[in-house]
Amino acid sequence: MTVRVGVIGAGWIGQDHIRRLTETVTGAQVTAVTDIDAARSQEAAAQVGAEVFADGGELIAADDVDAVLVTSWGPTHAEHVLSAIASGKPVFCEKPLATTAEDCLKIMEAEMAHGRRLVQVGFMRRYDAGYRQMKQVISSGRIGEPLMVHCAHRNPSVPESYTTDMAALDTAVHEIDVLRWLLDDEIVSAQVVLPRATSKRYEHLRDPQIMLYETVKGIRIDLEVFVNCQYGYDIQCETVGEHGLVRLPDPAAVDVRTTGQRSTEVLTDWVGRFVHAFDTEFREWIANLATGNEPTGPSAWDGYAATVVSNATVEARKSGRIVLTDMKPRPAFYATRDIA
Ligand SMILES: NC(=O)c1ccc[n+]([C@@H]2O[C@H](COP(=O)([O-])OP(=O)(O)OC[C@H]3O[C@@H](n4cnc5c(N)ncnc54)[C@H](O)[C@@H]3O)[C@@H](O)[C@H]2O)c1
Repeated sequence: MTVRVGVIGAGWIGQDHIRRLTETVTGAQVTAVTDIDAARSQEAAAQVGAEVFADGGELIAADDVDAVLVTSWGPTHAEHVLSAIASGKPVFCEKPLATTAEDCLKIMEAEMAHGRRLVQVGFMRRYDAGYRQMKQVISSGRIGEPLMVHCAHRNPSVPESYTTDMAALDTAVHEIDVLRWLLDDEIVSAQVVLPRATSKRYEHLRDPQIMLYETVKGIRIDLEVFVNCQYGYDIQCETVGEHGLVRLPDPAAVDVRTTGQRSTEVLTDWVGRFVHAFDTEFREWIANLATGNEPTGPSAWDGYAATVVSNATVEARKSGRIVLTDMKPRPAFYATRDIA
């Protein structure tokens, strides 16, 4: 069965996912598009022969929309996800699921009332081959019980519109999700330490930041977020266990030797780093829907946890204190772990 997808938000990532669903993923067809920018939705829809809808509500109600993809601005996500659940349609929501814990809880309540999982959140790192290998190693017990994780999330530069809060809400949120999944654990506290600021930043921005987390099991995580590092897009993750460690591989790149030098390319943007993860994420989402199964990727609970922890990280930076995350207990509905 072909899964007919309606897309809400035809901006940067919306257009990239429309292309992915059309050219890369089999079994999917983008049949509907809406964007508050009418010209943008017309253009995106025309490229794939989709129908343009006036707003998210009309698109979700359309007969030829089997599943909904939400790629609009973060603060609008909750409204569209709740409408999709009310219509009983599966919905893939780019991160964040919602910007507040309260809205995430509303989404979970609506989904639980529906009785079946409909929501998947766009945390694509869980589909990256390196992170999946790390997960296997940690779950197999080969390095023993994990004790510490050292991470870095570095970006060459960010535009002036990037704010200090975004370091937690848009950047660290990917580590927050993938670490909860890798460790099969929840984060209980957040703290932020601010090193000397780089001169290569807009004046309003605190960069870099070091984020420190503790989990229920007592694992300590240190995460360097440095979004004006100049040299490249560089994601590092090393989990240290009781008798070994596992480290995320760098993306494959050839070794070049010339004029007395030996060098290996460092990527400069996240698109190239995670393109395969995005492709796998959508292949698996569509494959599950096409066979009538529930989505198996990051759930509404995962979206809730990521929002709680990233908001706690902002509060920790602003207050200078260690902030407890104060998460609700996980409902039995979300008890089973998703993709392994
Ligand atoms: N998983 C990832 O790594 C990743 C990467 C990039 C973006 N994102 C997320 O995807 C979302 C979109 O990001 P983007 O970079 O494409 O932004 P963007 O600004 O390029 O696109 C957003 C689009 O949504 C439209 N829009 C806003 N509100 C709308 C509404 N109520 N109904 C219909 N359309 C609406 C805007 O007009 C715009 O065209 C954000 O939540 C962002 O955090 C995730």
